[in-house]
Amino acid sequence: GIGGNATVYWMKVYWIKLLRFINTCGGTLKGQNGTIESPGFPYGYPNGANCTWVIVAEQTNRIHIVFQSFAVEEEYDFLSLYDGHPHPAHFRTRLTGFQIPPPVTSTGSIFSLRLTSDFAVSAHGFKMAYEVLMSSACGNPGVPPKGILNGTQFNIGNTIRYRCVTGYVLDGHPILTCVLNTGNMAVWDFPVPICRAENTCGGTLRGSSGIISSPEYLSDLSNAGECKWTVLADPGDTISLVFTDFQIEDKHGSLEIEGSEPPSIWLSGVNIPAPVISNNNWLRLHFVTDRNHLHKGFTLQYQGKTQSTNHTSVSR
Ligand SMILES: *[C@@H]1O[C@H](CO)[C@@H](O)[C@H](O)[C@H]1NC(C)=O
Ligand SMILES: *[C@@H]1O[C@H](CO)[C@@H](O)[C@H](O)[C@H]1NC(C)=O
Ligand SMILES: *[C@@H]1O[C@H](CO)[C@@H](O)[C@H](O)[C@H]1NC(C)=O
Repeated sequence: GIGGNATVYWMKVYWIKLLRFINTCGGTLKGQNGTIESPGFPYGYPNGANCTWVIVAEQTNRIHIVFQSFAVEEEYDFLSLYDGHPHPAHFRTRLTGFQIPPPVTSTGSIFSLRLTSDFAVSAHGFKMAYEVLMSSACGNPGVPPKGILNGTQFNIGNTIRYRCVTGYVLDGHPILTCVLNTGNMAVWDFPVPICRAENTCGGTLRGSSGIISSPEYLSDLSNAGECKWTVLADPGDTISLVFTDFQIEDKHGSLEIEGSEPPSIWLSGVNIPAPVISNNNWLRLHFVTDRNHLHKGFTLQYQGKTQSTNHTSVSR
């Protein structure tokens, strides 16, 4: 009867809506601020998804994104970030897993995100807020795990301060100041520090040069562990690392270096790696080893390089 036809009609409308909901994702976003959610959030994104969002700001502005929720099936599904249009040349980093990533600021006026999922299992997805930053704003750099941030203003001249909860030590520079860089853009003068558990190895290294070595106890086959070092130079300077010893068995250990080629460099094997040069005034090293390794570890020398020629001619 008529009632039956109506039911069929509404079921069709429902299915068309559902299919559109599943198949449409991504898009181009403009405007001062907004939010982006993965399709189906928080009930899970579809399998085989390939969603691209492009955020476009006015030319001299940048884009700041802050994640509010993040759960993406680790190592199978990814959210890739691009500093510009979603082209391999603009690739910035790839996010996966179940931890809320730190805020990200674009280097230019276009920023893209691409969610890709495989053909099995999904997770609840992500939600983030974006905001267009004027060239005089640094944006909220976020709080590291186990960290506390004191400061609510993030514009040129503002200073913020970090500390760690009890049981954790701060690695890096505790005070960040929003300054103008040589490209006339507002940037934080140091990276966000990390909070390292008191009983783990690593530390903060400064000064014009020094040596970093994996600890002796981690060259013992029966010990597993990890260390994190932060190397800092003055704002505007860069840092280079030169390896003198290197033996990290593939699959049983690695040395990850952040702050050079994005998103990071992973080193393992028995060949002395090429020198590493920082993009800015910091590098962060993360050494991990399991209980079955047969390696010695590594030794390297770091050296700060002054960029301004004025400085080098004055010193010494
Ligand atoms: C966008 O900015 C306006 C004005 O500052 C604010 O009222 C609004 O809550 C913001 N929206 C989002 C999604 O952040
Ligand atoms: C996602 O779509 C873009 C273009 O729309 C394409 O270039 C890219 O290869 C796709 N990625 C995957 C993993 O299918
Ligand atoms: C935060 O900073 C302000 C100004 O520098 C200071 O007065 C205040 O004591 C700080 N608060 C904490 C909890 O560190």
